[in-house]
Amino acid sequence: MCGIVGYIGARAATPIVLHGLKQLEYRGYDSAGMAILDTDGNLQIRREEGKLANLERLVDAEPVNGSVAIGHTRWATHGPPSQRNAHPHRSPDGNIVVVQNGIVENFLELRNRLQGQGYEFASDTDTEVIVHLIHQHYHNGSNADLTLAVRRAVGELQGPSAIVVFDKAHPDRLIAARLGNAGGVVVGYGDDEMYIASDIPAILQHTRRVAFMENRQMAVITQQGAQFMDIEGQPLTLKEMEIDWDAESAEKGDFEHYMQKEIYEQGRSLTDTLRGRLNFAQNRIELDTLNLKPDVAQALEKVTIVACGTSYFAGLVGKFFIEQLARVSVEVDYASEYRYRQPLVSARQMVVAITQSGETVDTLAALEEARNGGAFTAAIVNAIGSQAARVCDGHIYMHAGPEIGVASTKAFTASLVDLLLLAIYLGQERGTLPAAEAAHLLHELSRLPGLAGELLEDARSGHLYQQLAERFHIYHNFLYLGRGINYPIALEGALKLKEISYIHAEGYPAGEMKHGPIALIDEEMPTVVVALKDRVYDKMISQVEQVKARKGLVLAVANADDQYIQSKADFIMPVPAVHEMISPILAVMPLQILAYEMACRRGEDVDQPRNLAKSVTVE
Ligand code: F6R
Repeated sequence: MCGIVGYIGARAATPIVLHGLKQLEYRGYDSAGMAILDTDGNLQIRREEGKLANLERLVDAEPVNGSVAIGHTRWATHGPPSQRNAHPHRSPDGNIVVVQNGIVENFLELRNRLQGQGYEFASDTDTEVIVHLIHQHYHNGSNADLTLAVRRAVGELQGPSAIVVFDKAHPDRLIAARLGNAGGVVVGYGDDEMYIASDIPAILQHTRRVAFMENRQMAVITQQGAQFMDIEGQPLTLKEMEIDWDAESAEKGDFEHYMQKEIYEQGRSLTDTLRGRLNFAQNRIELDTLNLKPDVAQALEKVTIVACGTSYFAGLVGKFFIEQLARVSVEVDYASEYRYRQPLVSARQMVVAITQSGETVDTLAALEEARNGGAFTAAIVNAIGSQAARVCDGHIYMHAGPEIGVASTKAFTASLVDLLLLAIYLGQERGTLPAAEAAHLLHELSRLPGLAGELLEDARSGHLYQQLAERFHIYHNFLYLGRGINYPIALEGALKLKEISYIHAEGYPAGEMKHGPIALIDEEMPTVVVALKDRVYDKMISQVEQVKARKGLVLAVANADDQYIQSKADFIMPVPAVHEMISPILAVMPLQILAYEMACRRGEDVDQPRNLAKSVTVE
């Protein structure tokens, strides 16, 4: 959580940093701020409570020019959202400024000590502790060596932190440090200019040449390049990478919201997820980066999927895929639970983390637990070069492109595809998937992007979802039901609705209805069902009837050619009929659009729902 951007070069830094912050606003929007060394050599600070637009207005009213700057967008941890708690924070002499992503866990102890030594605090944040510590070390025993002072200060911090430091006395450099799983720190290489950011979209407009900093690493960044070292001061060489995302992929284009763009680009993103992975010549799946040896795949006794939120629901669908096709038992666990329950882990187990950001702190901790237990670890991950991709034995990229809307959409469908690819791969390695069935699935997967594109095109050119939103945005409670492979889709549909429109929605496995939730049904509580023509179709129809018998309204995600359900449900959200294994990937799309339109109709801030941030890098 929180986003950091830094620039050092010859160009005007203000627009570069503001644009970078815009791309990172999904990480937090409680306040925003920047520090710029102006052309007269003065260190200027601009900070504002609330969204970045407030900071932009302030910068418009009080412009500042310079070619070195750091910026920050905040998701509040220590201290409420306010201007005084907005980053950057500065040293008592006003010379050193710091932006931080993360948490100083021993903040109280350090703050008390610093206060005892005469430091006055101007904010409630833990970040201010860091800048005072740097100031203290700089003036005591570091011989005015800024890098050494930062190293010593960072050495006193507990908990995950990523920081960028600027000192007026060293105008030619920015210093960055990363401790623990504080979210990404990416250094971008330009032409006689350098960037630093929490995530790639912030700098994608300027460069695709990057290096990722790891735990306990520091960087001294000048206009000409970066020198890396560990926290102990030992020099390091970091691998440079070329990111293959295009700059437009992180922009909103003609769409009103990132979420809307990300929903409607799923035809394309699914093509990218599948690219190079379907080998029709041999009817096999290519997953080179998974690094799973055939003997390890054959010997697997258990697969555990760990994830949070939407990624967890993807995992529930993955359980169906893997158990059906690879005949190995799968447990799916919330990463936040798994990490604390002393899980049973063995060398004959594969632990798969699903994470869009690759930085979710609970998911990373769950992976560590699995690694310590000797399991083979793999990540299904979207963010290139992120921590999850780097710490695992193998990974499968989602290749969904940057996802900026806080509510996850295209990463969900990409992770479903990756899970299906993994299940087919395991099924083939373990000899549990007949060749004809594998060939059929490959064929069905190849049709998926086209079908998704048509579904989305029809939805966008029609008015169905706006009409549904018009009719239903006034309701306060919704029930979402699904069964079998589409039960997790009901959970995901309910999550989408609640997180962006703030309407209470509960997802349930349809068969559980009569064990409790049916008591809620009345004309005030619409029910959304996923009722496709699959092996549980008849059972879903009988659920629809039970809801109707209690005067409930039913909105059904149903196959477009299903005449029968049209006479049962009140409203139909059509999807094409496909192989059962592919069906969840399409069935979720109407629910994403419904949630989006409902939130728009209610006038909510779709891309930045209250209290949420996209990368959950704190517990
Ligand atoms: C919901 C949503 C969250 C994330 C969750 C995990 O729309 O986006 O529930 O799915 O915070 O994030 P990642 O996948 O980045 O680990």
